Amino acid sequence: MPLPGLPSVDPVSNIGEDHTPSLRFMTFVGRITTMARIAVTDGMAKDAVALLEQAGHEVMLGPIPAEDLAAGALGEFDAIIVRSATKLPADVIAASGDRLAVIGRAGVGVDNIDIIAAASVGIPVVNAPRASTQSVVELTIGHLLSSIRHIPRSDRGMRDGKWEKKAMKGTELSGKNLGLIGFGRIAQGVGAVAQALGMTVHTYDPYLPPKVAKAQNTTLHKKVETLFSNCTHISVHCNLNDETHHLVDAKRLALMPGRSIDGIACGNHVVNCARGGIIDEEALLAALNQGTIASAALDVFEIEPVPQSSPLLQHQNFHGTPHIGAATLEAQARVGRDIAHAIMSVLDGGTCETTVNAHLLK
Ligand code: MLT
Repeated sequence: MPLPGLPSVDPVSNIGEDHTPSLRFMTFVGRITTMARIAVTDGMAKDAVALLEQAGHEVMLGPIPAEDLAAGALGEFDAIIVRSATKLPADVIAASGDRLAVIGRAGVGVDNIDIIAAASVGIPVVNAPRASTQSVVELTIGHLLSSIRHIPRSDRGMRDGKWEKKAMKGTELSGKNLGLIGFGRIAQGVGAVAQALGMTVHTYDPYLPPKVAKAQNTTLHKKVETLFSNCTHISVHCNLNDETHHLVDAKRLALMPGRSIDGIACGNHVVNCARGGIIDEEALLAALNQGTIASAALDVFEIEPVPQSSPLLQHQNFHGTPHIGAATLEAQARVGRDIAHAIMSVLDGGTCETTVNAHLLK
């Protein structure tokens, strides 16, 4: 069931990634723009830039300062393509004037864009939801393995001249319960690899048709609490929104069993390669300090870049990466190509199946 006080159907902020094809695949007709000026503010693969230029569009590469955006800098563009660094809140969209015809998110998460404000002025927001799936799956498995085999800690020790063979005794993933929060494409990919490694997969996703979980041989929990109480390993795979903010908190972390179904005292392990803010980092740190959590691995943080003063960075059972889930040559090539085609489709007055605010556009 959705958490109390929340709508039972929320096609944009669904907890997993994509269980509402009928809404996501709605189409609309955009404004027709032949030679467009396109701002690409957070970088994009060269081939994707070339695709846009070969189609006759002018591409302006480089960040636009937040104060310029707020002052209406987008009024000079027909389209903007962002990743996660550029923030497009309601005031920036309102200040953009009449010219801006489409916003592209070169990636999955649109939490940095006010898609409702965009829809209210007729601007579709398109993303590239499938392009980075495999890369994020692989990073998640990498973090899980790194945690339970103490790979970052061993490396840090060796650099300090330590050979801590005994202290680095780990556990296997095989025989353990993995709890996936959200069960969209990425979580399903993680689940498949985890099952191949001998894990039993559980999930919490209030928007998931039960038959999807069944088809993946996965136990679907109606309450997130029972996911925590059944799993020694938790990985986050949902969007960040009001419903999921601090979904992983002190109370829920405290429910994790610490001992696996195969009887091994493996401790509890948490990974997040989805979005910062879904895990309450203060609660996570406290759980690490208390030993409730044996390890935590984050690719995403409540504040990015994570401040160097963050105590998490000092904890020996923590390791992190700087939001690199989609940062592979393969994913970036696919993301760039997909978003370039999506943008051009809208600029040509056509349809785009990855318009995340299609249901809000008049
Ligand atoms: C995404 O939402 O696509 C990923 O977090 C990667 C990114 O922000 O670039």
